[in-house]
Amino acid sequence: MPESSELLDADLEAVRRRLSANEKRVLLALQEQAGVAVPDDVVGSHGFKVLAEVMSAASWLADKGLVEVEEDKTVLVSLDEEGRLHAEKGLPERRALRALEGPGRMAMGELVKSGAIVGHETSIALGWLKRKGWADISKADGDTILTLKKEATNAPPGPDEALLARLAGGEEPADALDAKALQELKGRKGLVKEREVTERKLRLTPLGEVVVEPGLEVGEEVVQLTPELIASGKWKEVEIRPYDVTAFAPTASGGKPHPLTTLIQEIRDVFVEMGFAEIAGDYVESAFWNMDVLFIPQDHPAREMQDTFYLAKPQKVDVDATLLDRIAAVHESGGDTGSRGWGGTFDKDTSRKGLLRTHTTVGTIRYLSERPDEAARVFSIGRVFRNETMDATHLPEFHQIEGIIKEPGANFRMLVGILKEFYHRMGFPKVRVRPAYFPYTEPSMEIEVFYNGKWMELGGSGIFRPEVCLPLGVKDPVCAWGLGLERLAMMRFGLTDIRDLYVSDVDWLRDSPIERR
Ligand code: PHE
Repeated sequence: MPESSELLDADLEAVRRRLSANEKRVLLALQEQAGVAVPDDVVGSHGFKVLAEVMSAASWLADKGLVEVEEDKTVLVSLDEEGRLHAEKGLPERRALRALEGPGRMAMGELVKSGAIVGHETSIALGWLKRKGWADISKADGDTILTLKKEATNAPPGPDEALLARLAGGEEPADALDAKALQELKGRKGLVKEREVTERKLRLTPLGEVVVEPGLEVGEEVVQLTPELIASGKWKEVEIRPYDVTAFAPTASGGKPHPLTTLIQEIRDVFVEMGFAEIAGDYVESAFWNMDVLFIPQDHPAREMQDTFYLAKPQKVDVDATLLDRIAAVHESGGDTGSRGWGGTFDKDTSRKGLLRTHTTVGTIRYLSERPDEAARVFSIGRVFRNETMDATHLPEFHQIEGIIKEPGANFRMLVGILKEFYHRMGFPKVRVRPAYFPYTEPSMEIEVFYNGKWMELGGSGIFRPEVCLPLGVKDPVCAWGLGLERLAMMRFGLTDIRDLYVSDVDWLRDSPIERR
């Protein structure tokens, strides 16, 4: 904060204009009370009804350098339950001493019987009689014998007893008390208790004094311009407080969608804007739809247990018999597709195996099989499952962004164009394609995005082969793609470990902006 003397009148006026009505009221109240006041004393004056109003205005003023909020922490000491009892009747060792002063010598049993101390106090009384040098302790016939020390007769109250008596009068601040005695009482269970209180004082800073010095006018204040104010012309009369966009405000962190959910919505928007409709499918599928229909050979390594999650329930999934025969023929000999197929014997039981879908391409192919004659531009964003070891770049469950363009004349250039356009719209200008291989597409390509000095592999695509299309009655060319969502998310969120997307790091979640394109 600059020294008040450095501020020009114009600056002071600007500071005054940015004051809220409550801030002005607090400044005026402090001015009246010679610059310092306890917040409670401000309540009740200048129309303040509750402390929270005063404190809230005060903290804004503190932020503006006009008021200082001083905090004084004090520890207050008072008697606890046991302590109140002892303050009244004396500490156990004092009561024992009084009882001993007549006979000079007593067995512990007698002492308790006399009512001077109660059972649970015996060891406390013994310990302190010895420590304070008031009695000698010996054993005889299995009982403990207490013998009064001569010099202890009429022993004056010690500092601990004096403190106990003082606290019987009420709560006291710790720093006003005999520290050693307090330590001693605190060392004994249940005698005293402490609580900390914070006392606040509001004090005008030198700048605050200058600002309030000429007095402040507390007008009717309007925080929000309403249609009524504009229509009635009243806006010309009321005082509208200028916004201070540099003012401190606490960060509000309410609930919000997970960053991945937001990203999925964003991707959805992009495809919808490009004229695509969304489709969805199920997690549980048959090997038939997930693999056979896509002309993935039955001995393909990706079908092995270590890649695919096969299910115990349902272990078998029904498959349409006619279609199954047709697909079996395509695999064995090419069927009517002009292909020679993979050769060997096709196993229909393998087809019926239940599994968790390993790619969303299964949803695409089902969609095509249901409407082989329609043109289609559809996409899906869904979860897929692969039996993979988790590491910084692999998850056993992840999402794919899948889609197709099916229409007369659909071609490879369209496919490249659409995917490049998608990544451009997602904020990645540098995109390239590389040749690749998938059993169900020809030609096939891999799409890569340049990020952080590296080319990142993001997904596969291609044009569905005749072995896939013809058995389903699909005659138009089909451009298809399946892209990784989590890899894209890593680049978008600047993460280097894919697992970070799913660890629910609250700080990361809180600090992630509710970001949309
Ligand atoms: N299904 C492929 C994968 O999971 C991606 C792909 C989809 C490739 C469509 C070509 C066509 O990696």
